[in-house]
Order: sequence, then C-alpha cells, then structure tokens
Amino acid sequence: MSDNSRTILITGGAGFIGSHVVRLFVNAYPEYQIFNLDALTYAGNLENLKDIEGKPNYTFFHGDITDIEFINTFFREHRFEGIIHLAAESHVDRSITDPLAFARTNILGTMNLLNAFKELWQNNWEGKRFYHISTDEVYGTLGEDGLFTETTPYDPNSPYSASKASSDHFVRAYGETYGMPVVISNCSNNYGPNHFPEKLIPLFINNIIEDKPLPVYGDGNYTRDWLYVIDHARAIDLVFHDGGNGETYNIGGFNEWKNIDLVKLLCRLMDKKLGREEGVSEKLITYVKDRPGHDLRYAIDASKINKELGWKPSVTFEEGLAKTIDWYFDNQEWLKNVTSGAYQDYYKLQYQD
Ligand code: NAD
Ligand code: TYD
Repeated sequence: MSDNSRTILITGGAGFIGSHVVRLFVNAYPEYQIFNLDALTYAGNLENLKDIEGKPNYTFFHGDITDIEFINTFFREHRFEGIIHLAAESHVDRSITDPLAFARTNILGTMNLLNAFKELWQNNWEGKRFYHISTDEVYGTLGEDGLFTETTPYDPNSPYSASKASSDHFVRAYGETYGMPVVISNCSNNYGPNHFPEKLIPLFINNIIEDKPLPVYGDGNYTRDWLYVIDHARAIDLVFHDGGNGETYNIGGFNEWKNIDLVKLLCRLMDKKLGREEGVSEKLITYVKDRPGHDLRYAIDASKINKELGWKPSVTFEEGLAKTIDWYFDNQEWLKNVTSGAYQDYYKLQYQD
C-alpha cells in the first residue's frame, strides 16, 4: 500500500498498545492524518499521549465503538482509508466477572466498525485496509510442547479470548463474503511502558514499590511468551503496510517464561533498583487461588511475519524489562493517578475475597 497521503483511524489509541501505535504512526508518517478514537474507559488515558497531542497530523476523538449511530456518522464525516482496530476490553480476570461487557465492545463494537467501513467503501476497496489487532489467546492453551501457528484451530477458553475469537471470525468473514481488504494479527503477551497495573508485570512492579503481596495464581507454573510493546507496534506498522489481504500474522517474542520464574527475575531487578538487599521483594510472593479456566501455556511461532515481512523483536527481555522498570520509576505520578479511585475497588474485589 503506497499512498502517501492517508487518513487512518486507530481505535483504542489511548490504551497500552494503542498509544504506542499512535505515537509510532504520528512520528513516522507526517504525511498521514492519524485519528485516535477512544472511549477512555478505565484503561484509556490521554496522559499516555502527552508528547504527541499537539502534532498537526494527530486528532483525538472521544467516542464509543458500541454506539452504532455515532460510528456511522463518524465514518461518513471522515472518509478513513485505513482502520487499525485495537479498542477492546482486554483483561481476562475482568472478563470472568463481566463477560457481557466483552461481548459488547469486542464483538458488537468490531461489527459496528466493519459495517461502517463496508458502507463507506463498498465497491471501492483500492488501497484500503481494515486491520484487526488480536491475541494468541484465541488458540486456547498449549501443553508442555508446540507453538501456535497461523493455522492452529481456534479454541478459546476465557470470555475474553472467546470475544476476540468471535471478532476475528467476523473480520475474516467480511473479507471472504464481501471481499473487504482485511488483515489480522494475533500477538502474545505485551509488556512495557504505560501498561495498566492490572496485568502481571505492571501490577507486580507497583506492588513491589508499595511493599504489597505479589498474588501468584495457582502454582505459578503457567507460561507466557512476552514481547516488548514497541516491537509489537513495529510489527503492526509492517503488517498494515505490507501484509497481504485476508492474511493472518502471528507475532511473538520468542521469549517464554513460567510466571514464577518471571516474578523472581522481576523481584531481583526491583531489589537492585530500590537498593534493597537481594531476596527482599521475593518474600512478597503469595500463592493465591487460581484463575478459573487458566490457560497453561501460550507460545507463538512468529516465523511467517519474520520470513515474509522481515520482522523480529529488537529488544531482549532483559533490556525490555529494565526499560519498563525505569519507566515506572520515572512515571510514579502516572502510576498514582491510575491506581487511585476505581482501581482500589477492582483490587479489593479481585484479590481480597
Ligand atoms: P487496553 O485495555 O490497555 O486498551 C484498550 C483501549 O480501548 C483503552 O484505551 C480503552 O479506553 C479503549 N476502549 C475500550 N472499550 C472501548 C469502546 N467501547 N470504544 C472505544 N474505545 C474503547 O488494551 P491493550 O492491552 O492496549 O490491547 C489493545 C488491543 O490489543 C486489544 O484489542 C487486545 O485484545 C489486543 N492484544 C493485547 C495484548 C496484550 O498483551 N495487552 C496482546 C495481544 C493482543
Ligand atoms: P495477565 O497479565 O493477566 O495476562 P494474560 O492472562 O492475558 O496472559 O497474566 C499473565 C499471567 O500471570 C497469567 O498466567 C495469569 C498470571 N497472573 C498471576 O499469577 N497473578 C496476577 O495477579 C495476574 C494479574 C496474573
């Protein structure tokens, strides 16, 4: 896709991954107009984008993808040429308490965007693209061996992954049925700056700073494949521009860690950072009740995006974790702001029953 003046809509751009994608596109493509549509739920935060908010090629819109009237009008007013769709409810634990919210945003919200894009561009697909950002969790769980490839059958286990699987299916179906130029990528667990402290790594960084227990679910022998968020944003840039229509790309870190090993590494790095004696933070580890339906292991085979688009992670896990820890120390105000108010109620409900 080689149009040099393009109007791109990024949804969920005030969230964790979205904010890094918005920043990359605004800085790398001054000739594009980048629109960020976000409902600013608990996970959305315009503080994440302070450094680019004044750029001439960037515009923020406060709006909800589940609001069909708003979305239809919005698309008729701004004739978007590309959509990079990240807006979603994204936390597995919240999907267990409130699955309907996940169906609304992740399935219906995605369908609203698909329908609005279809109406706008029917019979005129040249140079256009609808890109859905998805997760490896749609594939379900792995045993001790094997990797998820692009042809692994979908087998989601949580309401979150079921809602993402469903939206992937709709995106794919719009490609097959209406010939819409769609592309999907399924990525492993991200970590890095601006990550909301409900997910494992930022939650544990925050708890170590506050000297609070580190709640490890079950026996801690669950495995995830971790990728630095800016490397995910780089992959999204490549897939958006050079990926094939109707294709799926798996994105992963080549970086599997058992939760308990990762937590111990994080404790050691945090002890150093805080000038604590080694072993102090590890004492905060507390084994708690397991997550229901907890997937044992995720691991991605990212050879397709590597071979076809030349992508690979640029940051090692040690570098990425160190950068992440530094960011949370340099941005304590951000951390304080997002962990006040409603976060406290969430925390009580999730961890203190
Ligand atoms: P996040 O929860 O940090 O951000 C989601 C953003 O979407 C927030 O800014 C929120 O305000 C916005 N949003 C939520 N509901 C909305 C609605 N109805 N209308 C408009 N905006 C709404 O999520 P994230 O971790 O940045 O994930 C972004 C995307 O990437 C999601 O689609 C997620 O499924 C996918 N993904 C995440 C990971 C990960 O490790 N975090 C891995 C693979 C894929
Ligand atoms: P999380 O960051 O929620 O990502 P996901 O569930 O999408 O993989 O969790 C990562 C792993 O850490 C997962 O196996 C669940 C586990 N975990 C804990 O042990 N304790 C916690 O408090 C959280 C939030 C997660």
